[in-house]
Amino acid sequence: MFPNINPTKTAAWKALSAHQKEMSDVQMKDLFKQDPKRFEKMSVYFGDLLFDYSKNIITEKTLDKLLQLANDCKLKEAREALFAGEKINETEDRAVMHPALRSFSDQPIKIDGEDIMPEIRETREKMKAFCKKIHSGEWKGYSGKKIKTIVNIGIGGSDLGPVMVTEALKPYWIKDIKAHFVSNVDGTQIVETLKDLNPEETLFTIASKTFTTQETMTNAHTARDWFLKSAKDEKLVAKHFVALSTNEEGVKDFGIAPENMFVFWDWVGGRYSLWSSIGLSIALTIGYDNFEKLLKGAESTDNHFRTTDFKENIPVIMALIGVWYTNFFGSETEAILPYDQYMHRFPAYFQQGNMESNGKHTDRNGNDVTYSTGPVVWGEPGTNGQHAFYQLIHQGTHLIPCDFIAPAISHNPIGKHHPILVSNFFAQTEALMNGKSADQVAAELKEDSMDEGQKKKLIPFKVFKGNKPTNSFLLKEITPFSLGALIALYEHKIFVQGVIWNIFSFDQWGVELGKQLAKKVLPELENDKKIESHDGSTNGLINAFKKWRA
Ligand code: F6P
Repeated sequence: MFPNINPTKTAAWKALSAHQKEMSDVQMKDLFKQDPKRFEKMSVYFGDLLFDYSKNIITEKTLDKLLQLANDCKLKEAREALFAGEKINETEDRAVMHPALRSFSDQPIKIDGEDIMPEIRETREKMKAFCKKIHSGEWKGYSGKKIKTIVNIGIGGSDLGPVMVTEALKPYWIKDIKAHFVSNVDGTQIVETLKDLNPEETLFTIASKTFTTQETMTNAHTARDWFLKSAKDEKLVAKHFVALSTNEEGVKDFGIAPENMFVFWDWVGGRYSLWSSIGLSIALTIGYDNFEKLLKGAESTDNHFRTTDFKENIPVIMALIGVWYTNFFGSETEAILPYDQYMHRFPAYFQQGNMESNGKHTDRNGNDVTYSTGPVVWGEPGTNGQHAFYQLIHQGTHLIPCDFIAPAISHNPIGKHHPILVSNFFAQTEALMNGKSADQVAAELKEDSMDEGQKKKLIPFKVFKGNKPTNSFLLKEITPFSLGALIALYEHKIFVQGVIWNIFSFDQWGVELGKQLAKKVLPELENDKKIESHDGSTNGLINAFKKWRA
């Protein structure tokens, strides 16, 4: 049974509220002085990944209480329900089984008593065979040329995962294959993407769970028109368009042959779908074997999450630390800062992962929550962020817990670039924790020739209060396996937080209203009547738009 517990009513929550008062002035740097073994105690090796959470405003007592909160909220039972294929996505009456997509065990995994593994294996085989045909050149475009360009058309979870992973794994791209991603309904993106492409060598993967999403269908039709301008025969669509979807009828209506459809299932949430056939553009770009390594990396995390004691369980610790700041320190945002250029879409990916999953104000009983839920998640790769928004993280008025991520080995070990890059990671986490006191600033200014009055005036502006929390993820290298493992850690963190906040993490009703209204507005933009059916602002904007286009 999936638990349904108001976290604020638990004994642990009350204990944590009291404990926060004891901790509010505690300095992390003092905790390190008091305990020389703090790093060893508060870091976990997981394969070739080191997770260091010692630079947080926590003690062992804090962790005990947070772990108690997890127990009070019946996290173990919730985890069981997830892996048992229970319909924990209650508002959509669906199971949540993305872990099955990366299972290579020979054990059955059942939903409603039916083993879903045979279908998963069959789809993997179909993806593998398709990749082989494309890469070997056996699959030819309509004029007999080899496919060299993949264009994935999808949005949200049908885009962000494939883009993020293919970008993060660029060193693994198959020679002679290029990938492009079109998501925005803004015609600019598809026009700019198709501009330099050759339709004879281009394969479109139309990625949409529902196959009804307005943006994706609009882009897919534009791509089809562009293709037919050159191919001039509808029958040839079959050689250049494949569909990744759960909606067979929709795919057929679009004109994609059933044999060119790669299925997945309603128990795969859009933002958790890169492991399914939605990942076909990944497999086509990095090769199917590397795609399978990505899945196996995620599987290793599933096993870790499922079997490791909560005390050593990385996603559980990540989640609990997040809850600590969100609910007891009033922190409202979290930054994800990859020190790896290839990982530049990782923050955007987990913006959807976190915010679409845990951006909810209704608890599992349908009541408004009385506590904060999912934080605002954002970030940019280091070191660019340092020259943009780190000022606010260091000296602003918000407490922003940050995740720093870096590989020890770069795929581009040119000159001293990588040591310089990573020295910034280490320096930033140290600076955020230690800060710089007024005395330190004064001592630094001592040697300066400026007059004493001016020095004194400057001091407060140069002080860093420090005590800003960070998690560090140091990976040996970004490989398909390690990336798969890392993504799954963040996924399970989201799950754990949803359990504690007692919300449904796997629906996304909040995206519906805007979609509905856009459907009502669209015809109003296409007629020449003055619009008066909305509020004053919306009417005003619509009418101004129409006037300029008349
Ligand atoms: O933004 C809402 C959403 O439903 C996401 O959850 C999903 O990833 C995206 O739209 C795309 O949906 P589909 O794959 O059905 O086109």
